[in-house]
Amino acid sequence: MGILKAVRGTRDLLPPETALWNRVEATARAVFSRYGFGEIRTPVFEVTELFARGVGEETDIVSKEMYTWEDRSRADSESGQSLTLRPENTAGVVRAYIEHKLADSGMLQKLFYIGPQFRRERPQRGRYRQFWQIGAEVLGPAWSGSESPLRDAEVLEMLGAFLNEVGVSNWRLEINSVGSSTDRPRYIAALREALAPVKGLMSPDNQRRAETNPLRVLDSKDPFDQEIVDKLPKIADFLDDASKEHFVQVLAALDACNVPYTVNPRLVRGLDYYTRTTFEFTVPDGSGLGTQNALLGGGRYDGLSEMLGGPKAPGIGFAVGEDRLILTLQAQEGEVAEPKLDAFIAPMGVAQNALALVLAQELRRAGLSVEIGDGNFRLKKSFEAADKLARRMVIFGEDEAASGILTVKDFSAGEQTKVPRGDLASFLKKR
Ligand code: HAM
Repeated sequence: MGILKAVRGTRDLLPPETALWNRVEATARAVFSRYGFGEIRTPVFEVTELFARGVGEETDIVSKEMYTWEDRSRADSESGQSLTLRPENTAGVVRAYIEHKLADSGMLQKLFYIGPQFRRERPQRGRYRQFWQIGAEVLGPAWSGSESPLRDAEVLEMLGAFLNEVGVSNWRLEINSVGSSTDRPRYIAALREALAPVKGLMSPDNQRRAETNPLRVLDSKDPFDQEIVDKLPKIADFLDDASKEHFVQVLAALDACNVPYTVNPRLVRGLDYYTRTTFEFTVPDGSGLGTQNALLGGGRYDGLSEMLGGPKAPGIGFAVGEDRLILTLQAQEGEVAEPKLDAFIAPMGVAQNALALVLAQELRRAGLSVEIGDGNFRLKKSFEAADKLARRMVIFGEDEAASGILTVKDFSAGEQTKVPRGDLASFLKKR
């Protein structure tokens, strides 16, 4: 029989790499809690309509990348419900916000999430079909301050602090305003008009986008189309005064707290719900990501809650591609050695096995990390296993059991010491 493997685009995360994942997540929790965020966990699958309405039918995600199936119905005659593995978490968070009437408190909601997302994209380094996001949303009724440019700047400043703390210091923030929900249709109409005479010259992908979602033409990476793309109208020229002023205030607040940024007038992003501020954090070439260099993306939205049947709830949010963040850290830090345990206990005969386990229990209760061998092992095998796993080996034979004096071998110092059992825990705690 053939060997079964993880599905294309999915992967297993194993130790010691998972220690890095845990460190990143612990840092996110610590930093986000300093900014008043609480954790939300929404289901991994939702009704398909949530994403069709929330993310947008014409987006790449909804039109071709979702894992959707018809759930079995209870009665055979009924057709099943269409369900989808979440391709992103913003729609789910807003659904939960509406469902649990979080608006009723009148307070701004600050929610973060960590979890897997699913998109059927062409897998490559930094792009997977199951990938992880660390994200957050800040939303609430307008009177909670959810529309304030201060919130945009706060979220961006927090992201800079998070990346610095986790150890990515060479990030670059690109920012743009895509205008209000009334600016955008005017801009899209102008784009369509400008694209009409030239779209025949573009790649088939861009020809299709020019029809279905002209904004997507702007962030096309196709080098042959760049000349045309560069001449297209810019969103900045279509912003109304309120959107312009909002953007000016976001940038001023970023300046005030020394968050460096670059305004990129072409940054539109691939989801339909964005209004006003949109942003991406990237890392330069050579940071381990190749072309998939967007570490994270996000922006402001207004109208998403109403689209899902809820009250007006403007907000802003982001999602960090955790897989990409880890790749960047690995490229910077190199291979991380597996951390060594405090001690390896080597029983010298099967008769000592149970007593050695009791000793391990004692030491673990004292907070030490301990592995235990087996009385069946030959001495050489015990030494090899101990050297691989732990900083020290505790030899536990008949004599040691009787006398209560244990022999501890320290691998890095190359020393052997006799230690009374009562002192063993504190001896092993010394570095
Ligand atoms: P997004 O730009 O689609 O935005 O994804 C955010 C980040 O997730 C990307 O910048 C990237 O790092 C990572 N990512 C996306 N697709 C993949 C993939 N196939 N493999 C690995 N990493 C990937 C959103 O998802 C929005 N919900 C963000 C947001 C929250 N906007 C407002 N609130």
